[in-house]
Amino acid sequence: MTLEAVPDDRGAERLVRAMHFTDLEAVTAIERRTFTLPWSLAVFSGQLTRETGIDLVCELGGGIAGYVVADMFVDVWHLMNIAVDEPFRRQHIAAELLEAYFAITELQGHRGHTLEVRVSNTPGIQLYRSFGFVTTGVRPGYYSDDREDAAIMWKDWEGESA
Ligand SMILES: CC(C)(COP(=O)(O)OP(=O)(O)OC[C@H]1O[C@@H](n2cnc3c(N)ncnc32)[C@H](O)[C@@H]1OP(=O)(O)O)[C@@H](O)C(=O)NCCC(=O)NCCS
Repeated sequence: MTLEAVPDDRGAERLVRAMHFTDLEAVTAIERRTFTLPWSLAVFSGQLTRETGIDLVCELGGGIAGYVVADMFVDVWHLMNIAVDEPFRRQHIAAELLEAYFAITELQGHRGHTLEVRVSNTPGIQLYRSFGFVTTGVRPGYYSDDREDAAIMWKDWEGESA
């Protein structure tokens, strides 16, 4: 998927497009800066080979500013990973990535979207709420580094049933 590049507020070209293997060095660098339990390059590569996956990056001024990875399991979309490199946060990059993700997923019938997020992750939870996700449960001790709980969030499919 390629959308038209548009200049952002500072005049840098901004573009949401499909993630390629050649992006993975930049993507994993952001991943390591962002998470205490980062995905490895092998995990991203494996995800890129899955036919059902949606893997998008936001390119800003020729570099990678953020990405989203999602996959369909049975009839539910799982938002598995989203990150925006710290200097580029609060510029609606995650929102733009999610808008592109929803535009793709709305093309085929499904039950809804789910994800797990650390209960302390206010920016993440606020982002998901702003897209209509609600918290439906908790997975106690879900994160293996510090045993923090995960909030389970869900969003119904808003399209027409087949
Ligand atoms: C969560 C994250 C992806 C948001 O990316 P972002 O590009 O800064 O988010 P956006 O600018 O698109 O924000 C969209 C909306 O999300 C919410 N939001 C984002 N960051 C927020 C924050 N720090 N505090 C409160 N709300 C926030 C707001 O509702 C915001 O809309 P607004 O700016 O109009 O108020 C980013 O903070 C990040 O990479 N965090 C580390 C990784 C992470 O936590 N990933 C998600 C959990 S797996």
